[in-house]
Amino acid sequence: MATNITWHPSLSRSERNTYRKQRGFTIWFTGLSASGKSTIATALEQHLLHLGLAAYRLDGDNVRFGLNKDLGFDEKSRNENIRRIAEVAKLFADSSTIAITSFISPYKADRETARALHALPGVSPEDEALPFIEVYVDIPIEVAEARDPKGLYKKAREGKIPEFTGISAPYEAPEEPEILIKSHETSVEDAVREIVAYLEKKGLLR
Ligand code: PPS
Repeated sequence: MATNITWHPSLSRSERNTYRKQRGFTIWFTGLSASGKSTIATALEQHLLHLGLAAYRLDGDNVRFGLNKDLGFDEKSRNENIRRIAEVAKLFADSSTIAITSFISPYKADRETARALHALPGVSPEDEALPFIEVYVDIPIEVAEARDPKGLYKKAREGKIPEFTGISAPYEAPEEPEILIKSHETSVEDAVREIVAYLEKKGLLR
């Protein structure tokens, strides 16, 4: 971090939430490539927007066209990918927006760092932590590989893509996600219903 920098005070989270009439938080999807996380995340974003709520989705492939176009798929690059996304998601959540992220985010430590970042206090000592909801989109790798919508598993098996998650790079499954979706056994609509029910139960949709 640079030196000679000073943190500037701004509105408290609760003040911002009151004006925006909405609570900001992050819904963090994680799962293998082709698990369905982006499909469910997109349907969820649409549902929340239809409710009149501000929601914005950050997606793995898309973010790598811009903000993270300098990053590859080695472990260090993935760590940095997730670190930046966590910071961006936190900014969205801090602005009273629902940040929805859909990244493989294969390393447990990176996801825990993202969660811890949201738990840090805001600018005001009475600020509550920003809620962080981990959604694990679980799918057997054989099913993901059979789906292979982008043909990436095939290329990975042929050795044309190095360090492919689940084939030649690790995926560390969450042990205690807030929400577990077995996407090969659940429809997209039911998955969205389950997530929305969770958010309502926690009083986050107001
Ligand atoms: S990560 O691990 O969280 O940093 O990955 P992410 O930013 O979500 O990017 C995943 C998408 O990149 C494509 N892709 C790969 N995925 C995994 N491993 C390797 N080596 C790889 N190379 C390219 C792939 O399209 C992923 O998209 P999804 O939507 O997950 O299928």
